[in-house]
Amino acid sequence: MIVIIDFGSQFNQLIARRVRECRVYCQIEPPTVTAEQIRSWSPEGIILSGGPASIYEKNSPRVDAGIFDLGIPVLGICYGMHFMVDTLGGKVKKADKREYGFASLTAGQQKGLFAGIGNETVTWMSHGDSIDALPEGFSIIASTANTKVAAMANTRKKFFGVQFHPEVEHTAKGRKMIHNFLFDICGCKPSWTMKSFARDTIGQIQETVGDKKVILGLSGGVDSSVTALLIHRAIGKNLTCIFVDNGLLRQNEAAQLKEKLKSHLDINIRFVNAASRFIKALAHVTDPERKRKIIGKEFMDVFEAEALKIADADFLAQGTLYPDIIESQSAFGGPTAVIKSHHNVGGLPKKMKLKLVEPLKYLFKDEVRKLGKTLGLDDELVWRQPFPGPGLAIRVIGEITRKRLDILREVDTVLQEEIRQAGYYRKLWQSFAVLLPIKSVGIMGDGRTYENIVAIRAVTSKDAMTADWAKLPHRLLGKISNRIINEVRGVNRVVYDISSKPPSTIEWE
Ligand code: XMP
Repeated sequence: MIVIIDFGSQFNQLIARRVRECRVYCQIEPPTVTAEQIRSWSPEGIILSGGPASIYEKNSPRVDAGIFDLGIPVLGICYGMHFMVDTLGGKVKKADKREYGFASLTAGQQKGLFAGIGNETVTWMSHGDSIDALPEGFSIIASTANTKVAAMANTRKKFFGVQFHPEVEHTAKGRKMIHNFLFDICGCKPSWTMKSFARDTIGQIQETVGDKKVILGLSGGVDSSVTALLIHRAIGKNLTCIFVDNGLLRQNEAAQLKEKLKSHLDINIRFVNAASRFIKALAHVTDPERKRKIIGKEFMDVFEAEALKIADADFLAQGTLYPDIIESQSAFGGPTAVIKSHHNVGGLPKKMKLKLVEPLKYLFKDEVRKLGKTLGLDDELVWRQPFPGPGLAIRVIGEITRKRLDILREVDTVLQEEIRQAGYYRKLWQSFAVLLPIKSVGIMGDGRTYENIVAIRAVTSKDAMTADWAKLPHRLLGKISNRIINEVRGVNRVVYDISSKPPSTIEWE
């Protein structure tokens, strides 16, 4: 195991990704963690992340200096390196010139951290501070044209510092350096697989839950489906899933889950049809945030009422993922502004004193997909694109009516068919249609039409934090438009959204 100390860098999740790609388990911890806690986990090494602060500023984040007395290797990245230097008696100063972007690194010797990287290699830098004096026992192991101490080491103690970011793709040999640190320096073994994770987690669930009952809100997304499967493996029929049909779902969604999870995998699922209630509560509401609040509240009421029917349930399971946890514990408090109020984590039904089970809370999305595959989840569910909790309510722009929801469902079905057939479904983070609240004039046969406009949105992304509009082939876009206008009554115009995030968001509302 590797412990990563989070000093607030936007790349700290990437460090974890790289470590886990090497099949080594790692955990990101805030700087408030103590050396004693770390010692109790017996990690093989520690990585100190970068961060936006300057070490010589008041209130810059610091972690217990005792980590340097644990006798385990430490790698400091950018700010993490500055912290190491400052703590061990060296000096960090403001750089004469801020360095940002690519820099060619020349390593003194190709061994240790730099074994097998070549004489000169491209790295990526982003810093305004640099090392003025090394702590005792350290020497320079690599430089760039602008930065003399681009990397340093105390090989006796196995302490390393790098000014550049080995975790980002732009650093050509970054993966190799992390590999070197993990295996050659820390002596880790590549033993962390989804199979071992599943085995350990199923055991832990059995231990925690015993013969008590667990309730899970099933949405049909990959996270809640995998959570269901994992818990089902652990406790079988003592798991009850609740699926709330809020009337804002896509075509056949409930039916698909019935087939894939209930029939095939024999998972206990209660289907609640609450469509009328949601649609009534949303009548005449146009403000996106109000829509979200209403849907969140209705969901909680329906879910709670259903959950109360399950006698002696002690636990509530949730498909919370690692990025949600990291964001809420980050050194600088996660995202600075709430752009949209997401409510994946619905909160506990208050009347019931339930304890939480979150078996995926240390996993990233792609690891969850791998886990799903390992557990035998249907490909269709494993590869589902994300679908927002408020569903089609935030894709019918303006007022929501059954009729408008039906139009959008029909459009979406055509779109998904075409996207899948063209082999794009898995390549896209999301692809969906948006029904606009304006009409346009058209001509069909000999007659004039005055009908709805739909926008097609297709984006590529790694984590939804940023996204690019997908450069779908014109032929495919043409076919999608043609089919929608011909097959869906009430639509006479299709437009394609060519905005990226930021500054736009993925959803329109
Ligand atoms: P945005 O639109 O903020 O979306 O760029 C980022 C990702 O989050 C999804 N999304 C939501 N998910 N409840 C959810 O559960 C919401 O209210 C919500 N709003 C957006 C969106 O589909 C995309 O994957």
